[in-house]
Amino acid sequence: MTYDFSKPVDRRHTNSMKWDVADHELPMWVADMDFETCPAVKEAILKKAQLGVYGYTIIPDSYIESVMNWWKTYHHFELKKEWILFSTGVVPAISSIVRKMTTPAENVLIQSPVYNIFYNSIYNNGRNILSSDLVFDGKEYHIDFEDLEAKLADPQTTLMILCNPHNPIGKIWDKETLRRIGHLCAKHHVLVLSDEIHCDLCKPGLEYVPFASVDEVCQNNSITCVAASKAFNLAGLQSASVIVPNPVLRHKVNRGLNTDEVAEPNVFCMEANTAAFTKGRAWLEDLCVYIEENKAYVRQFIAENLPELYVVPSEATYLLWVNCQAVSEDTEELCQFIRAKTGLYVSSGEEYGKNGKTFIRINLACPRSRVEDGMARLKNGIEAYQKAD
Ligand SMILES: Cc1ncc(COP(=O)(O)O)c(C=O)c1O
Repeated sequence: MTYDFSKPVDRRHTNSMKWDVADHELPMWVADMDFETCPAVKEAILKKAQLGVYGYTIIPDSYIESVMNWWKTYHHFELKKEWILFSTGVVPAISSIVRKMTTPAENVLIQSPVYNIFYNSIYNNGRNILSSDLVFDGKEYHIDFEDLEAKLADPQTTLMILCNPHNPIGKIWDKETLRRIGHLCAKHHVLVLSDEIHCDLCKPGLEYVPFASVDEVCQNNSITCVAASKAFNLAGLQSASVIVPNPVLRHKVNRGLNTDEVAEPNVFCMEANTAAFTKGRAWLEDLCVYIEENKAYVRQFIAENLPELYVVPSEATYLLWVNCQAVSEDTEELCQFIRAKTGLYVSSGEEYGKNGKTFIRINLACPRSRVEDGMARLKNGIEAYQKAD
């Protein structure tokens, strides 16, 4: 491995949302990595900072080309230049798309358990959240296509937000599954918004399938959000690309992003994203190996020390989704207990939907020493919880 991910970076007292915790606490919650970003990105930001003038910023062709080349080279999907719009983040884009492409009181379909902010983007805009819950069979998740079709067939359902790969369960949807979803949505006139923010964080050897690459039906009826922010830890730079192949949809989405004023980049994000997409591949490949090793460590630790927990197999993201049902039917209470007892801060599953109630989500994007510390705390916390019960 060329790059070293084992060096801890002290983020306490740096206005980090993740690290806004007490000094003895260890945050392994929000999807934010503790690693320094790739050297080329840091260099690009430092160079821009040196300029000392921080005025308004354009979206240069070099940025768009870097996105096109990245998707062509690593995801085998040729984007056209005009398909790519800029937004100040995936969540701002999702909220804008919900407002522009649906009307109040319509249903926006999601697949719970899923990224918690999807709920906010729907609910805060006065639309109904309609979940076609993913079904957990005790080992892994699958889609109940009958339920999905029944919900898509409701004329009030006009948008589906797909998480591809899926946060928090870590699943990479295969091409056939995406095709089935895409064709059902097209049949029932439901637009697909595919959030692909975790797509560059796949297990080494596995590849995700861009929804719009599946076939023309999927391409013409979809909006895709992608970003370098998860893979290169740039969330604080607020940037994302919104890919809309269909020109009619694209015009509307573009108007929405502009009306909502979420279409202009900040002064650092063009250089940072372009550096990531043009010079960051080797770093990213090492990162994915390191994350996989962290996951293997946790799986083994849990098997040996906390066998009553079940780690859901994870193909993507740096998050692990762990079923704690044998310990607690309510992980909100369990997580609070563990945090108070040991300082370990993980996310409780219900944040991602009611059917997540017995799960916890653990963020493993940190040096191994922190993962080890986190696991020791988890063991202490769970043992103390079981004794207190
Ligand atoms: C599925 C998913 N979408 C979007 C985001 C956030 O995107 P952004 O920071 O670009 O708004 C996250 C962050 O964890 C996420 O997991």
